[in-house]
Amino acid sequence: MPTSTYPDVMDKLVSLCKRRGYIFQSSEIYGGAGSVWDYGPLGVELKKNLKDRWWHAMVRAREDIEGLDAAILMHPRVWEASGHVAGFVDPLVDCRTCKGRFRADKLEDARCLQKPSKHPGEHDACQLTEARQFNLMFKTFMGPVEETAATVYLRPETAQGIYVNFLNVQQSTRQKVPFGIAQIGKAFRNEITPGNFIFRTREFEQMEMQFFVEPGTDMEWFEYWKAERMAWHERLGLAPERLEYHQHTAQELAHYARAAFDIQFDFGGTLGFQEIEGVHNRGDFDLTQHQTYSGKKLEYYNQVENRRYVPYVVETSVGADRVTLAALVNGYREEAVPGEEEGRVVLGLHPSIAPVKAAVFALTKKDGMPEMARKLATELRADFPVDYDETGSIGKRYRRQDEVGTPFCVTVDGDSTANGTVTVRDRDTLKQDRIAATAVRGYLAERLGR
Ligand code: GAP
Repeated sequence: MPTSTYPDVMDKLVSLCKRRGYIFQSSEIYGGAGSVWDYGPLGVELKKNLKDRWWHAMVRAREDIEGLDAAILMHPRVWEASGHVAGFVDPLVDCRTCKGRFRADKLEDARCLQKPSKHPGEHDACQLTEARQFNLMFKTFMGPVEETAATVYLRPETAQGIYVNFLNVQQSTRQKVPFGIAQIGKAFRNEITPGNFIFRTREFEQMEMQFFVEPGTDMEWFEYWKAERMAWHERLGLAPERLEYHQHTAQELAHYARAAFDIQFDFGGTLGFQEIEGVHNRGDFDLTQHQTYSGKKLEYYNQVENRRYVPYVVETSVGADRVTLAALVNGYREEAVPGEEEGRVVLGLHPSIAPVKAAVFALTKKDGMPEMARKLATELRADFPVDYDETGSIGKRYRRQDEVGTPFCVTVDGDSTANGTVTVRDRDTLKQDRIAATAVRGYLAERLGR
């Protein structure tokens, strides 16, 4: 599938997503909530399809990974053990002149609000404050009376729910190391510099998998998961030339990590290559910390060798919203249409994640065409999300479906009512096949993929 880069792709997508019902700004009628987004009718389907693909590849298609759905609110000690209370902080500086707020360690990535050609602190008028530490976790209270309630946190990652359930899952499923636990869920971070649409938000969804392995085999598994996860992104249709690994340098490496690679995607424009997924070798840090803080053993018992040990963890952690954005950026293209004055905008989404799989049109509103087309759409809906449209010119109807990424358009025309055939148009090649209406279901099933 062709993929192009457009410097202003983010602006184009924000507008397309609102216009077509993919993504809306949260609480828009009140002026919007900062860096929080709502998924509309098409967006919710796209993200759900992505999550289903991940769940299928990581849980259902494998014997060695179990699923979990842990709660967002956890015991406050979890976040002391994980290091998030003490360490999940960013240094912040404010500018007294422009009132801008910046990450002290990322000033070179920021622009002075008064003189955008300079970084904060470089313009004569800049007056930066001392750096302050700012914890990224959202705090709330558990219990009805605030004064006596316990302070709890909205989880900043889903991983900790997996670590604390390590033995529950292992013992209830009788899995043997090596095995993994996967979950999809919301995470919250009070990001200082959110932005770029759904790239960095304060509420987002993670798809994380923790793979528990015998110490000494961890680097082998790390390499395995690095390759597996890259292959998953490629199978999703993300262009290979837009994907790359980034190895964490000694400075970037978290204190507990033995090795870490990001999978980066080229978002184009000023963003360029950015992390969409992290693959981390976390050693025994997490389980050991939870043993210490909870006082409960989190050891694996190897029955055959009569040996107990704390497994090492290889983690794969990907943002559902960030991959959604990558799929939108990857798929967006503007192109000329042979023989037509107006070009078209296409969202070349992989058919397996496209929100609507096929649109059924009646060429005109007469001669039994709408009846036949409606009947076909209803039949297809038993298996696929299908749109029905009979208004406007056929060209306009095609353009609308191209713009939302519908892979196939099925048209009922004058011949259809006479001989029971319809045309099926491919979004990408524009090729049209004439097939029996009764064959459309099989035709789509063959081409949509998982
Ligand atoms: N458990 C490890 C962990 O959370 P991370 O690198 O902080 O690692 C993993 O996050 C992934 O979660 C990122 O690669 C990204 O896709 C997604 N993510 C992190 N912060 C995000 C944010 N503020 N908005 C959207 N996605 C985010």
